[in-house]
Amino acid sequence: MKYNRCGRSGLMLPAVSLGMWHNFGSCDVYDNAKKILCHAFDRGVTHFDLANNYGPVPGSAEETLGRVLKDGLGTHRDEMVISTKAGYDMWDGPYGNWGSRKYMIASLDQSLKRMGLDYVDIYYHHRPDPETPLEETMGALDHVVRQGKALYVGISNYKPEEAKRAFEILKDMGTPCLIHQAKYSMMERWVEDGLLDLVGNMGVGLIAFSPLAQGLLTDRYLNGIPQGSRMTKSQFLRPEHLTDEVMSKIVRLNEIAQERGQSLSQMALAWLLKDNRVTSVLVGASSTEQLDRNLGAIENCSFSSEELSKIEAVLEKQGAN
Ligand SMILES: NC(=O)c1ccc[n+]([C@@H]2O[C@H](COP(=O)([O-])OP(=O)(O)OC[C@H]3O[C@@H](n4cnc5c(N)ncnc54)[C@H](OP(=O)(O)O)[C@@H]3O)[C@@H](O)[C@H]2O)c1
Repeated sequence: MKYNRCGRSGLMLPAVSLGMWHNFGSCDVYDNAKKILCHAFDRGVTHFDLANNYGPVPGSAEETLGRVLKDGLGTHRDEMVISTKAGYDMWDGPYGNWGSRKYMIASLDQSLKRMGLDYVDIYYHHRPDPETPLEETMGALDHVVRQGKALYVGISNYKPEEAKRAFEILKDMGTPCLIHQAKYSMMERWVEDGLLDLVGNMGVGLIAFSPLAQGLLTDRYLNGIPQGSRMTKSQFLRPEHLTDEVMSKIVRLNEIAQERGQSLSQMALAWLLKDNRVTSVLVGASSTEQLDRNLGAIENCSFSSEELSKIEAVLEKQGAN
């Protein structure tokens, strides 16, 4: 594993981190979840990312991690970076969503209980809240650090302008923002419009989520939609996303990857990691084999200008879609 410094902090993160959004809920097979987590750790993937609502059912991914830690992995707690978040709908009534101090602090207490932990390494605000003053939400993040319930804090899904304000508020409070978690892949490039420059200039790390576009940027859908794939069971990735246009791009990108001696998933991850402002790519996996293949990306993250232009030509057509 290669470890990258997270912004201008003291914390190093693995170039590839593992997210527990899908495949680790109470509806999934516990033994498979445990196998993936332990294998990831054995391969040097020291960072595991969660949120209060990951499951399904909401909360159950945190319970799965708690169980795996209790089953033995927890003896390595100091070798791991565990993150969780709050910001989406989690419990009934006006205090289980968005960004109030009330919600942020109660949610972390619940998350810690589900995972059986005293603290998380990173606590995130999951998405901006248009109603709550940013000072209040950032104040809650600062507070949990002072309580010792989180070591670092981050934000997710904030656009550059609001991210800048959040960074400034946190800095003034004495709890600098460690990291921004943003959706970034060959298929989704909004971070190139100001956010990458911002985190680079302000010394904040960036972790790219859904770097494989939920599996589109792999060989998963090259020959149809396999039973059991995310596209057959998740509301977030549906067959209508696999348009002819998207399919032809995937085929073309796959050819370029092969010319580089990589799989498509490896090239998609390497393409993100070539920018040193990207601290880590946050992948999902439903098997240890997928994870292993993805870890191979680290072996070649450099691109010739010719390769980059070829990729750009394919992606630009994507944007016009
Ligand atoms: N902050 C936020 O708002 C936010 C939002 C979304 C996600 N996230 C974080 O980002 C993490 C990753 O998101 P993601 O799961 O969408 O990431 P992703 O890496 O883009 O997609 C993962 C899925 O792609 C397929 N896959 C992965 N490697 C493969 C391979 N080598 N060959 C074939 N298929 C492969 C698997 O799908 P199958 O199930 O079909 O096998 C896997 O579940 C989440 O777990 C979460 O921690 C954060």
